Amino acid sequence: MGARFSSKLDSAPLAATFGDFILLPGKAAVEPSEVDLSTRISPSMSLAIPLISSPMDTVTEVDMAVGMARLGGLGVVHRNCPVEEQVAMVRAVKRAESFIIRDVVTVAPDQTVSDARALMDARGISGLPVVADGRLVGIVTRRDVAFAADQSRPIREIMTVDPVTVGPDVTPQEAKALMGQHKVEKLPVVDRDGTLLGLITARDIFSMESRPESTRDREGRLAVAAAVSPFDLERARALDRWVDALFTDVAHFHNEAAMSAAARMAREVSADLFVGNVGTREAAEEALSRVDPVAGLRVGMASGSICTTGEVTGVAAPTLFAVAQAADAAEALGSDASIIADGGIRGPGEAAKALAAGASAVMLGYALAGSREAPGQPLMFGGRMYKFYRGMGSPSARRRRYALDRYSRPSKEIAEGIEGLVPYRGDLETVVRKFVAGLRAAMGYAGASSVRELWEVGRFARVSQAGLREISPHDVRPLEWRPEVG
Ligand code: XMP
Repeated sequence: MGARFSSKLDSAPLAATFGDFILLPGKAAVEPSEVDLSTRISPSMSLAIPLISSPMDTVTEVDMAVGMARLGGLGVVHRNCPVEEQVAMVRAVKRAESFIIRDVVTVAPDQTVSDARALMDARGISGLPVVADGRLVGIVTRRDVAFAADQSRPIREIMTVDPVTVGPDVTPQEAKALMGQHKVEKLPVVDRDGTLLGLITARDIFSMESRPESTRDREGRLAVAAAVSPFDLERARALDRWVDALFTDVAHFHNEAAMSAAARMAREVSADLFVGNVGTREAAEEALSRVDPVAGLRVGMASGSICTTGEVTGVAAPTLFAVAQAADAAEALGSDASIIADGGIRGPGEAAKALAAGASAVMLGYALAGSREAPGQPLMFGGRMYKFYRGMGSPSARRRRYALDRYSRPSKEIAEGIEGLVPYRGDLETVVRKFVAGLRAAMGYAGASSVRELWEVGRFARVSQAGLREISPHDVRPLEWRPEVG
């Protein structure tokens, strides 16, 4: 008697989710505060903390991407907008802080004081190099324009001529020393002929010094990534000049057309390319073999807090299961592509489990959507503050995408995401610091002093339903308010 179909059930693997397993305690050699959370996600990019914000239009725009990079993580700017808008967001992140600003806003000597003032106000900057025929002829600052009685005077009459300048090879230390010596806050960068190449500001130097953990590119600008459809080479090319990484954004990357399009994209862009989402070992193996170069894989299908894919279609690859599958695939192929665990990570516990299962970093939607830096204003509802959070496959997000993006044809007639509210949690920095403190504690308990060590020493145990109940707060009704005790 054949058992072709019943054996499918009998031999089915366990698609484990975060709640099925716990990490076992292990001997700790370091205190949680000494745990090194740094992680390498591509040959050219390391993060001080293994956290990446999801490319969703209620999670990552400019403020989130700037905030994540400042804190040592990375933001992936969503693609639910026209190409020009996404490029503008990415450029705004690059302009937010840098050692040498390349994309300098300048004025001509014949423009008026009021022109300079309007430009400063519109761009939120406090000094403008004055350029004639590509050459630097002076600099005008907010102070100069504030003291000019006649706003219609040409800039040449109020600018500082012969400003202190530096060459392109200047180091941050040299620039800082020169600023101190001459008591200036801006240093134009010029070549031998006086052609303006860039601008260094004191604010950026101080900011770099105060946050050595920030994720930066070679020029000292904050690192940023952007999402693309694998079929949208035009968008990838437009973004490539500005971004450090591109992440493909498809629910099911294990698809012939998506794989071959991404393989082509990998050959055409210079940014690190992360592809996904994948959910099985076979998908990971095929992605790693066909897309070259590939920096990493986005892994997990249908685990997201706003996903209905699994519920609607019955098809899913829960993130913990998918990460272990993809990590095995990478190891078997000798690939050093990183595994990015994506979906279902509510807090440091799930993140620690994902890392122990072979991930190099985790991608967060829900966990960051309530922070101030996520797009949109907090809403008051029933006396509490919330922020709006929606799946990119939700009806309203899809409507916006189809209206904008010819690469996002409605191939499926069903919505695969929901929209809703998440509690408002305040500043991103506070949210991330809490998350990081929890992750350090988790790694301390697991006996790992680094992400790599967690791959080696992290041990899982299956937990029973009774065990799961017991390790959550139980029997005591939590208080909304706290009495004064002690
Ligand atoms: P969390 O759990 O962090 O998950 O909120 C965020 C991740 O969910 C994915 N995503 C979706 N998946 N339908 C889906 O099936 C959707 O509408 C949707 N929107 C986002 C995405 O991988 C994200 O990083």
